[in-house]
Amino acid sequence: MATHRLGSRALSRVPGARFLSQAQCKARLVLGIETSCDDTGAAVVDETGKILGEALHSQKGIHLETGGIIPTVAQRLHKEHIEKVVQEAVDNSGIPPCELTAIATTIKPGLALSLQVGLEYSLKLIEQYKKPFIPIHHMEAHALTVRMLDMVEFPFLVLLISGGHSLLAIARGVSDFLLLGQTLDEAPGDTLDKVARRLSLKNHPACCTMSGGEAIECLAKMGNRLHVSLTQPISRHLDCDFSFSGLRNQVNQIIIKKEREEGIQEGQILSCVCDIAAAVQHTVAAHLAKRTHRAILFCKKEGLLPHPNPALVVSGGVASNEYIRKALQIVTEANGFSLHYPPPKLCTDNGIMIAWNGIEKLRAGIDVVHKPEGIRYEPKAPLGINFSEQVKKAALKVPYLKLNI
Ligand code: KG4
Ligand code: ZN
Repeated sequence: MATHRLGSRALSRVPGARFLSQAQCKARLVLGIETSCDDTGAAVVDETGKILGEALHSQKGIHLETGGIIPTVAQRLHKEHIEKVVQEAVDNSGIPPCELTAIATTIKPGLALSLQVGLEYSLKLIEQYKKPFIPIHHMEAHALTVRMLDMVEFPFLVLLISGGHSLLAIARGVSDFLLLGQTLDEAPGDTLDKVARRLSLKNHPACCTMSGGEAIECLAKMGNRLHVSLTQPISRHLDCDFSFSGLRNQVNQIIIKKEREEGIQEGQILSCVCDIAAAVQHTVAAHLAKRTHRAILFCKKEGLLPHPNPALVVSGGVASNEYIRKALQIVTEANGFSLHYPPPKLCTDNGIMIAWNGIEKLRAGIDVVHKPEGIRYEPKAPLGINFSEQVKKAALKVPYLKLNI
């Protein structure tokens, strides 16, 4: 079996993997590496958006066991898997590492200990193969992924909803964003994960291996949202910010009350668990839809998007949720916007989106670093220019839109 040195030790190639020369690919090639949270991902993508090789190690199962992400555990798992994941992606691509054009890695935002693993490993590869480095903003990568398959032109409106983020922005170009609003407290994926944990869904046979968001979506299909009453978060704030922690507190109170009524202990499953899941999912969807609707009205008023054919892009792990997609479809259809998503597999964290963001930056000639000594990871990093004060000032009222899902 052929071997190829990658990182600090020689590793074997995947049997049958074929090395192609760069000339055969007729394009620039980027290796992308993602370790910002709990997924170790790597991929080689070419300039046309073709995924030549990819690999992903998810820590989801382990964090489900421990009841949430423990940063030191996440770091240890990244350290254990990064070499194998990168090697697999490169092997599957058939591209010898010396023929890569550049290496792109998430350096912000995210968990410090997780970001550190990806950056340190990438810097070693860069040194070894003498390649340029492309630092990546994780949220920018989520925002641009869709363009790999469906070339949505700039500028477009983007809603990013994940376990760590909730934001609305205008993507004006590569690394050029106007931030219209973001979460004031926690992200929707985080809320769904915490509610799922409080409902002990890892003990529910229908969804024990799923992430919190997936589990809520799965059970919501069997529930009636009208059986549980929840109020909309920050409905009086006429802006595009989000808030989910109050909703989580409301749900916790309801769960405590129902547990008392049913005489069950924490850890057991409530009989009305599907109704609670349906109500939470609907409230999250309605909140996202309302803020997105306001962002659309703001963009129209300020002439910030092309007319005709304005577009909304939605991405991040929570964007895989079908119910939320339908709510956003109602909003976009009512406003003449087209709606675009990456496929669910590319909505959650992966190395492909990082490699693609690297390609976008290469093409635009942005952030291609030849001397990466000064590069640091940044756990907190805003996306673009903050425009939320202007959105607040406009104080736009959103007309009622029936979410018949
Ligand atoms: O983008 P992502 O993989 O990681 C972050 O950057 O956070 O998103 C993970 C989040 C988790 O909170 C998970 O519960 C949520 O996405 N999620 C979903 C669904 N699938 C994953 N939320 C709602 N519905 C889903 N189907
Ligand atoms: Zn993410």
